[in-house]
Amino acid sequence: MKFFIDTADVSEIKELSSSGLLDGVTTNPSLIKKSGRNINEVIAEICDIVPGPVSAEVAATNYEEMLKEAEVLKAIAKNVTIKVPLTWDGLKACRTLRNDDVLVNVTLCFSASQALLAAKAGATFISPFVGRLDDIGLNGMDLISDICEIYTNYPNLNTEILVASIRNTNHVIDAAKIGADVVTLPPNVLKQLISHPLTDNGLKAFLDDWKLTGQSIT
Ligand code: E4P
Repeated sequence: MKFFIDTADVSEIKELSSSGLLDGVTTNPSLIKKSGRNINEVIAEICDIVPGPVSAEVAATNYEEMLKEAEVLKAIAKNVTIKVPLTWDGLKACRTLRNDDVLVNVTLCFSASQALLAAKAGATFISPFVGRLDDIGLNGMDLISDICEIYTNYPNLNTEILVASIRNTNHVIDAAKIGADVVTLPPNVLKQLISHPLTDNGLKAFLDDWKLTGQSIT
């Protein structure tokens, strides 16, 4: 399973990428706003830090404008992945960009039928938003299972399932059990993945005992 980080905060990305566990980055217009940075500059910096796919989202809603924006974004770096919304214009832009071998992430997916369309349009990634489905009383993980089942039925569909809108570590474990290809994690959820009180207590006890031996390994 690949781990992407869902932020445009360069210092967080630097810190977390030093773990060697980051496979990519996703951003969206809200995350760019939160960063307070210019999109072209911040995406360039992120692409320098993380060699994997870095999603940068178009802001246009019609096909021609999406392609114009994609031209600018993809010129930033080789690993820029163009993020388009799950609309007819977005799917059309996806097909055109994929014909030119540009990486495309189709975002704002909330149904299996949308995921099927994105795969037919050749999307590199489909981003189903599990947290936002949970927020309205549905089960986001059911959508991940449905998409997995559908894509598995058609091995010629090469779209990777990128589980988005993750709110907690259970989302990550559930997505891994289902076999999703990628999770994009808010920094706090990535950090929480390692936490266990028994690890902390166990390490403390080992270190206390080690001190009592008076030994040194080096
Ligand atoms: C995905 O690429 C989106 O950036 C993100 O996961 C949306 O998450 P949110 O529902 O927490 O805004």
